[in-house]
Amino acid sequence: MDLCIIGSGYVGLVSGACFAEVGHHVICVDNDQRKVDMLQRGEIPIYEPGLEELVHKNVAAKRLRFTNSIEDGVDHSQIIFIAVPTPPQTDGSVDLTFIERVAREISGVLKPGQYRVVVDKSTVPVKTGEKVEATIKRYNKDAEFDVVSNPEFLREGCAVPDLMNPDRVVIGSASQKATDLMKRVYEPFQAPILVTDVNSAELIKHAANSFLSLKISYINAVSAICEASGADVEMVADGIGTDKRIGRNFLNAGLGYGGSCFPKDVKAFIAISRQLGTPFTLLEEVERINATMLTRFIDKVRSALWVLKDKKIAVWGMTFKPDTDDVRNSVAIELINQLVAEGAHVTAYDPKGAEKAVEWGLVDPTKVKLAKTPIEAVADAEALLLATEWKEFANVDFAAVKAKMHTPLVFDGRNLFDPQTMADLGFTYHAVGRPGPKAGA
Ligand code: UDX
Repeated sequence: MDLCIIGSGYVGLVSGACFAEVGHHVICVDNDQRKVDMLQRGEIPIYEPGLEELVHKNVAAKRLRFTNSIEDGVDHSQIIFIAVPTPPQTDGSVDLTFIERVAREISGVLKPGQYRVVVDKSTVPVKTGEKVEATIKRYNKDAEFDVVSNPEFLREGCAVPDLMNPDRVVIGSASQKATDLMKRVYEPFQAPILVTDVNSAELIKHAANSFLSLKISYINAVSAICEASGADVEMVADGIGTDKRIGRNFLNAGLGYGGSCFPKDVKAFIAISRQLGTPFTLLEEVERINATMLTRFIDKVRSALWVLKDKKIAVWGMTFKPDTDDVRNSVAIELINQLVAEGAHVTAYDPKGAEKAVEWGLVDPTKVKLAKTPIEAVADAEALLLATEWKEFANVDFAAVKAKMHTPLVFDGRNLFDPQTMADLGFTYHAVGRPGPKAGA
């Protein structure tokens, strides 16, 4: 099929590459000429495992191309996906100006007799589809189109496999014709397809991300009780997670959730529920618990070091989770900046995110030293703080780490290491919600 995707960001670019991979012809549109030029040169603006190969392969096979022209995309495609950003506003509600502009731009290039399905893939508040439809009609009375909601559930770091093997595909549509076309788009993925009305599809995305955030905050709240009682949150998570109704996924206690989806989507769902007159106050507690995790963690470091000012502290991890270079809304970055604000001398290391953190002005390189290896980061450190659970850290030579550190004191914000192994190696080891240190300095 001929598909157009407006917005070549995270969702748009990965979706475009995966649609091309299964045999569709895809035109990715972006209004940022620099990005289009990069993509046309074969350069990928984001790091995502497997994406570069997929883009190169499908460009070479002439199934994928990039342009800055919406008209080009709309003219040559039956189905137009909208995958532009929907950033949060200061009050937590969603800024829909990009969606509205794209709706107007699509209406401006839709030709009479040219039926199109306009699919919203961006995460939007419930009832946005109705507004997109009204906008296109307002600016083009002759347009023949249907609006569909098709939320995307991909995770950063495994976006390609998530898209190629989705748990389910949600198609929110009021038109049989549009539904049939959408089913053809997704046929090659052989995933369960759930057809709903447009409003329900839109709500599914916010409800899903908020529920996952709730799971994380739930286990984090349990981790605090574990710390107070001497229980082990990892065992508790295994114990409740083996109940199939609960499931073990997203029950990893730690520094809390970050990234560009969960914080934004929980806030948005709270704002949406308020606007609809049915405040979802449980989610406010989810946010509150999430915020306490970093505070509790820094309190632990402070109580071990007494005063943070002038202490040499190594931080491993800067991205909001492993296998991505994304440092936006990263709890690790917040941790680093809070330590710096208290006067600590921080040396940080991240396998992928350090450059972006500086480039985007999220850390000040005059205040934070950036190391090239995990071992370099711990030189003379009085404490090592693990903020992101990159696999690389699990495989580090801990004898070398211990030899380099001033004091063998480790705070594991993601419960990556085994407490007994760390104690056997001679570290004083603190995890989240796990029994305290058994040996060491
Ligand atoms: C999330 C959703 O998973 C995805 O379906 C949606 O499309 C976008 O938002 P993403 O933000 O890429 O994806 O990352 P995810 O792996 O879900 O992790 C989000 C945050 O939660 C990370 O900061 C991670 O460290 C944290 N997390 C996750 C936990 O603290 N504990 C867990 O058990 C799982």
